[in-house]
Amino acid sequence: MANSTKKIGILTSGGDCAGLNAAIRAVVVSASKLGWEVYGIKNGTEGLIKSPVEYEILTVNNFATTPWPKMSGSYLGSSSKGINPKDMKKLATKFAAGVKSLGLDAIIVVGGDGSMQIVGNYCKNTGVKIVGIPKTIDNDTPLTEFSIGFSTACQVCTDAIDSLASTARSHSRALILEVMGRDAGHLALHSAIAGGADVCLVPEIPYSIDGIVKKLKKIKLSGRNYAVIVAAEGVKKENQGIKKITANLANKNKHIHIGQYLSEEIAKKYKGFVTRVTVLGHLQRAGIPNAFDRMIGTLFGTKAVYLLSTDQTNKLVVWEDGEVKVHELDEVIKAGTTPLDVNGDYVRAAKDMDMYIGDLNKLKNMR
Ligand code: F6P
Repeated sequence: MANSTKKIGILTSGGDCAGLNAAIRAVVVSASKLGWEVYGIKNGTEGLIKSPVEYEILTVNNFATTPWPKMSGSYLGSSSKGINPKDMKKLATKFAAGVKSLGLDAIIVVGGDGSMQIVGNYCKNTGVKIVGIPKTIDNDTPLTEFSIGFSTACQVCTDAIDSLASTARSHSRALILEVMGRDAGHLALHSAIAGGADVCLVPEIPYSIDGIVKKLKKIKLSGRNYAVIVAAEGVKKENQGIKKITANLANKNKHIHIGQYLSEEIAKKYKGFVTRVTVLGHLQRAGIPNAFDRMIGTLFGTKAVYLLSTDQTNKLVVWEDGEVKVHELDEVIKAGTTPLDVNGDYVRAAKDMDMYIGDLNKLKNMR
């Protein structure tokens, strides 16, 4: 039987990142080739839940004159409010009503772990057909090795580490860089390795101020007069243990600024380096999308359209073993979120490079 898809929607959900526009463009161009109409939903799921629905019909002309794939942000706008799980049913009904009012045959959702939980559940409970595309600078969407936006964000963080190292050297300081990573330490550790940081703290591994100080003293003894410390924003205070990893539906972004805390605690115990803090913030979500993010954005977008054209729905496209593969969305919802593998190669490499990444022994006792 011929595929009956004629009209699809696309939305970007959750925090924006570099590479989203490459994915949107890929969906529009490849769907247009099939003669489909593409409805761009404004501001994430909010655009569909509103009445009237907020959308724009997208054609290849939207991308003909402006180099969207080279630009950060989302052409469509996004929303990262999260929801109270108690409102799930009510919002799912509104979401499905929005899809119905536009007569959409299916929807492509570009989102992270939280968005896949929320929109995946909306669709499951209302029968809306969906294909998900993973994006997030946190790189914690389950089942994919890379999400759109992570690679560019790593470069932004690595550039910041490089810059901080040069000023740290001029002033004989230990400079602390706080990077994003609400639940997971992928961004912190990948960029700490790339930038050659001395210390990297992640939410998944307990640490001690004494451990950091020991490392700083070792650097001083070696004759080096500066250090760079990277900390993911989701790191808790010393002795508060490690973060419970959950796909955060309610999106409660009530972080302490861990960088400031570390700065003060290190200063209490060691005067060998003056400490200062840089919170990199939303710069990590911008930056010119690098080749990898434009490339996976385009591959994911075209694959999502291919899946719809072959009646494969309720799926997530993923990057696995160097190619695009497909998983059931249910598996993603079940998996929740992907923490850093504390037994994996990134942690091993950091240790082998003599980076202090916390106390893995304590972790063994906690599990
Ligand atoms: O989920 C991506 C993320 O960048 C997190 O690392 C960060 O905690 C959060 O978004 C910030 O969100 P907001 O811009 O809504 O404060």
